Amino acid sequence: MRDFRRDFPILNDANNPICYLDNSATTLKPQSVINAITRYYAHESVNVHRGDYTLSYKVSKEYEDTREVVRRFINAKYTKEIVYTSGTTQSLNTIAYGYGEKYLKAGDIILIDVAEHASNVLPWFRTAEKTGAKIEYIELDADGRITAENVRKAMNEHVKIVSIAQVGNVLGYTAPIKEIASIVHEYGAILVVDGAQSVPHMKVDVQDLDCDFYCFSAHKMLGPTGIGVMYGKYELLEATDPFMLGGGSNARFDRCMNLLMKEAPYKFESGTPAIASVLGMKAAIEYLEEVGMDYIEAKEHELHEYALSKLSKLEHIVIYNPKADNAIISFNVKDVFAQDTASFLSTQGVCCRAGNHCAKILVDYMGEANSVRCSMYFYNTKEDIDKFIDACAKANKDTCLDIFF
Ligand SMILES: Cc1ncc(COP(=O)(O)O)c(C=O)c1O
Repeated sequence: MRDFRRDFPILNDANNPICYLDNSATTLKPQSVINAITRYYAHESVNVHRGDYTLSYKVSKEYEDTREVVRRFINAKYTKEIVYTSGTTQSLNTIAYGYGEKYLKAGDIILIDVAEHASNVLPWFRTAEKTGAKIEYIELDADGRITAENVRKAMNEHVKIVSIAQVGNVLGYTAPIKEIASIVHEYGAILVVDGAQSVPHMKVDVQDLDCDFYCFSAHKMLGPTGIGVMYGKYELLEATDPFMLGGGSNARFDRCMNLLMKEAPYKFESGTPAIASVLGMKAAIEYLEEVGMDYIEAKEHELHEYALSKLSKLEHIVIYNPKADNAIISFNVKDVFAQDTASFLSTQGVCCRAGNHCAKILVDYMGEANSVRCSMYFYNTKEDIDKFIDACAKANKDTCLDIFF
């Protein structure tokens, strides 16, 4: 088996060894992604869709070819269903604004749950405020999962939009999206899926899932920051308004304010786009396909089991999601503030995130606002986990506070 770690410059810097376990926040970049970005800036840095010269045609083609690469990656039906955005956050905001605010009215219900990331909560709060619709929450089960049964319980004829993550960024459960989509559609509502934590780690087939919108960010799957995707079934993209207007997205306008927008996906892509990032996203997807999503899933499962078996033996550690489906462990050292633990882990050369992970209302379920999160990716090793476990074994009230004095 090829050693994929060799492809990541940051993992091969002898002067700055890194034990990186913060992959839910963002991922490291392989050389091929870095090359795609630098090639653009070094040799191709012209605009797309605007230049009447060979280099612009060439870059425009590469930029458009990426849409097909994304389509294939998530098995969308049409290339025109792939909208470039700056990431999951912009994708979800576009749907909340361009679909939610357009169609919802007082008395309608938007269904979310308390485990959602701020990016899948706050845009809906605003939609509710503007339209008079109500936010309701799908109850999590005793482990903190979203179940199809609880979605059914929460459904009624007033629910118009259900918006949930396929994989939660704190508890790491996989929601049964296909089953949920079928329930949501029985009631004539639409299902929006936040795929930020799923697309990087598992095979996703949006046609099979039958979700209506699906959103993700390239930087969480080896790609650059500032680029992501809003997938939508085409008739829904047609029905959705863009929230940004400007160059590139309109077919024509005149001084009397008559405006004709282009069709999706272009109507959502006003302004000069993040060209280098799109090309970097293409390289990231091609790299993931080379590694193989099945391999990625299996490797992460193995690392997760290994980490969990060792961490659960440490009696001073509280794990909040011992049954997680994905390689995310949220925990605390007893009597130690999460951020202090993460700072201590850093002194031991381990990178983990601490805090509420942008899921501020999950405290209603967890009873604890802050936790430390260890999130793995396929390039992590058992040696990384051993280092993490050794650091956790040493973490306690004294060692974690000592670093500040
Ligand atoms: C589940 C989930 N949704 C949405 C986001 C927001 O992604 P981005 O910041 O790339 O827009 C994140 C990022 O951590 C996430 O984990």
